Amino acid sequence: MGLLDGKVAIVTGAGQGIGREEALLLASEGAKVVVNDIGASLQGEGGDKKPAQEVAELIIANGGEAVVNGDDISSWEGGKNVIDQAIDTFGDINILVNNAGILRDKMSFNMTESDWDDVIKVHLKGHFATSQHAAVYWRSKAKAGEDVYGRIINTSSEAGLFGNAGQANYSTAKAGIVGLTWTMARELSRIGVTVNAIAPRARTRMTENVFGEMAKTDEGFDKFDPKNIANLIGFLAAPEASDVSGQVFVVFGGDVWAMGGFHVVGEIHRDAPWTPAEMLAAKGELFKGISSGVPPFSFM
Ligand SMILES: NC(=O)c1ccc[n+]([C@@H]2O[C@H](COP(=O)([O-])OP(=O)(O)OC[C@H]3O[C@@H](n4cnc5c(N)ncnc54)[C@H](O)[C@@H]3O)[C@@H](O)[C@H]2O)c1
Repeated sequence: MGLLDGKVAIVTGAGQGIGREEALLLASEGAKVVVNDIGASLQGEGGDKKPAQEVAELIIANGGEAVVNGDDISSWEGGKNVIDQAIDTFGDINILVNNAGILRDKMSFNMTESDWDDVIKVHLKGHFATSQHAAVYWRSKAKAGEDVYGRIINTSSEAGLFGNAGQANYSTAKAGIVGLTWTMARELSRIGVTVNAIAPRARTRMTENVFGEMAKTDEGFDKFDPKNIANLIGFLAAPEASDVSGQVFVVFGGDVWAMGGFHVVGEIHRDAPWTPAEMLAAKGELFKGISSGVPPFSFM
């Protein structure tokens, strides 16, 4: 018996890295999995079906059910195709993990138009293209009086929560994914669908320059193993997490932080407009709760 017996899951970008481990974990908990991946380079070029095929074969070899989907989720049609394939193959869609991503890191003054457009398209449109078509399906089920079991799990990043120099395109997309998560959580709560986001840290080709040298602990626990991330996906997809929605989690190793979102750190009020000079004079009061007007690089 698994936590997700009989459920139907889609993981985008599941050919390697974090998505691969998420697909394997969902299958090990009993879900039937659509393994989506175009097999692109880190920069989003080229295509190779093999990684997704290998993940699907591994799931089947372990006694699970899986199919491959090679659609580009950054296109509206690709987003629809992957949802349709899950319904046509397994009869339903219950868990949508939006994970696919690329990087084109450059300082803003060196960034090209295509660096901006391509990263925004894969991450931000790539999250909505799948989610919108899943939402249409779940709403039509709810309207027909059928039970809906729906989970959307999005992939943000600490770069989106705090900003990160060299990632204007990526951090903008990842912050947008938080807004999308909050909004769709509100919209879909009425039909019983939860929408949450994770901001992971794991060693993959995307981060090998940052985490590559980080070693296991003395106990042999590898904090940067992408397998650690997948467990939070299992938690959020489970029936017992039906009351968890609109949340953003930072996760790596054995550490999980539920993030509080935006909150007031200082305020000024009066029954008349502020002139700029008056507002400048009240600056200390406005920023009372923080040490400066600059957002922190990281919360740790
Ligand atoms: N690794 C980290 O520490 C880290 C940190 C923060 C956020 N993330 C996010 O986690 C997610 C997974 O990252 P990863 O480190 O496993 O990267 P990865 O490069 O190992 O895997 C990403 C996968 O997405 C696929 N992909 C890219 N464009 C696609 C498209 N248009 N359609 C379908 N598939 C596509 C790629 O082929 C690749 O297999 C990404 O959204 C990334 O931004 C990762």
